[in-house]
Amino acid sequence: MNTLTPLVRCSHEQVPLAVFADNAAAARAVAGEIAGLIRSRPAGTRPVVLGLATGSTPLGLYAELIRLHREEALSFANVVTFNLDEYYPLAADHPQSYHHFMRTHLFDRIDIPPANVHLPDGAVPQAGVDAHCRAYEEMIAAAGGIDFQILGIGRTGHIGFNEPGSPQRSRTRLVTLDPITRRDAAGDFGGEEHTPRYALTMGVRSILEARRIVLMAWGQHKAGIVRNAVEGGVTAQVTASFLQEHDNAIFILDHAAAGALTRFRTPWLLGPLEDQGLAWDERMTRRAILWLSGQRGKAILKLTDDDYNEAGLQDLLRVHGSAYEANRTGFYQMQHTITGWPGGRDPRRTQPGDAPARPLRASSAGVFPKRVLVLSPHPDDDVISMGGTLCRLVEHGHEVHVAHQVSGANAVSDETLWRTLLFARAAGLAGGATGAQLGEWCAAYETKGALPAIPEVKRWKGLVRRQEAAAAARVCGVAKERLHFLDLPFYDAPVARRLGVADVDIMHRLLDEVRPHLVYAAGDLDDPHGTHRICLHALREALVRSAQEPWFAEAELWLYRGAWAEWELDEIDLAVPLSPQEVLRRRRAIFRHETQKDQALFPGDDRREFWQRTEDRSRRLAESYNTLGLAEYEAIEAFKRYAPDEFLRHVKL
Ligand code: F6R
Repeated sequence: MNTLTPLVRCSHEQVPLAVFADNAAAARAVAGEIAGLIRSRPAGTRPVVLGLATGSTPLGLYAELIRLHREEALSFANVVTFNLDEYYPLAADHPQSYHHFMRTHLFDRIDIPPANVHLPDGAVPQAGVDAHCRAYEEMIAAAGGIDFQILGIGRTGHIGFNEPGSPQRSRTRLVTLDPITRRDAAGDFGGEEHTPRYALTMGVRSILEARRIVLMAWGQHKAGIVRNAVEGGVTAQVTASFLQEHDNAIFILDHAAAGALTRFRTPWLLGPLEDQGLAWDERMTRRAILWLSGQRGKAILKLTDDDYNEAGLQDLLRVHGSAYEANRTGFYQMQHTITGWPGGRDPRRTQPGDAPARPLRASSAGVFPKRVLVLSPHPDDDVISMGGTLCRLVEHGHEVHVAHQVSGANAVSDETLWRTLLFARAAGLAGGATGAQLGEWCAAYETKGALPAIPEVKRWKGLVRRQEAAAAARVCGVAKERLHFLDLPFYDAPVARRLGVADVDIMHRLLDEVRPHLVYAAGDLDDPHGTHRICLHALREALVRSAQEPWFAEAELWLYRGAWAEWELDEIDLAVPLSPQEVLRRRRAIFRHETQKDQALFPGDDRREFWQRTEDRSRRLAESYNTLGLAEYEAIEAFKRYAPDEFLRHVKL
């Protein structure tokens, strides 16, 4: 009854896989298979035994199962569940425990009998751990074994918490977490020092005994490890690779997580494109030539017929007739991405013979100055991701608006606000009852290490970030009255953040007010808490509403990437080179975000500070352009185009 149809297996892939346009569609398909299994097993017969995972990956699946329960009468009365793992030591009522996670995201919202759910107990005393783990295995066996096992994959390649080195025969046990896994979890625990070092996890063998296994992975940050697990050999260094030896396992991926697989990244290695239903269009040609240049360590214009032939690109050579012609195509495509005039040239300062306004569309090139809208999900994404371009646009005389979509309050530590409150009291800015109240809160921080978790504290944290954003905008020359603090309400939901009508209304009002010629938005969807994804979704919905408005037809939309990922070279449509002075100015703007310096609360797995990531990323990109044989710049900021109509068709979130 498998409803998840795998793609036809290609030679590099060692395990079946299916790829979906977005993770919501994938989650629906997985939920469909689970629902089918449950419905096929009538009440009174052996219960369906599900193996469940936690983390961000299964959230969409659980939401869909809840929907099926509420709207389509799917009952879990005859379902038994076993979760993969739990942090150790950690009490079940700790907000970050997997017990708590499962209650919040699934169990409390369906009709599963409490006695049917099982998780390893993170509070079991150390002396009892081995017995507890054995008992867990026995309970699984007594339930008849797992019918359907859900898995995510960690960036170490772990399934459950079977970190690199876990043997294939391992069973439920206490394990030490890998440093990468702990860093990934640090955001949830408020810092690495509060993140547990150990966990109880089902072993590789316990997982492989399930009759059906579905591993899900979403997002570009998983693409590399997915490729290793699917195309690499079976190895304890990537425990997900053991699924290659299961006869009923499947990987369910979204496009981003599948992006590094040979069939998508370098399909020419699998044979002629035509046989795969693909063509040598502009993108594919550019991608192959850039890949070849990297493989051979040569600038594009130095590639020879032999280079193409030996690397398996005979097909491309045939299309172009010679390496010379193919090289020229790839070279000019890259060269045409570069412009120092991201908003187009000022006609008053244009001389005959000046380079054209590429890569802007000819229709919008003549509009000068332009109304520009830079959307920054968090208050610092604008300067981190495109601070140099932002300064350039202002300098060229465009009307530049910056809209900060969420308050960013969650990433301000209590310590920061405590210092501000101390200042307010010491400066006599808060007297009387207010002063007394502040005094109490400061004392609470000083004794317990935490300010009270009340809306006022959160609002003030948001205000701290507003001042930082205003100071950074000043460094970039953005006028005060063109700063918009949207405070999209989805950000404040305590659990399961979702885009709402109120968010789209706010975005739509902004578009209506600015009527931008150029929109820059975060296309960096791998931020740890999914805020960028929802912000882009909000923009898309607002653009749908604006589709009939006159400004919309003229608008050009650019996506940037920031602290979490960079575009692949072949994805770049617009490359803005920066001078050394501009790099320093951008650094000054990023420095204004003091709450995010030194010890940002949500740094992800990267130990570098945000300004360092920005500089490394944009310098590395400039080096890549140089290595390809284009010009040598200090740094480059890159963007990918979405014409609004294409954007509406293709961006699925
Ligand atoms: C969770 C678990 C882990 C996660 C993996 C991916 O129960 O066992 O293996 O599935 O770490 O985590 P996310 O989904 O948060 O990327």
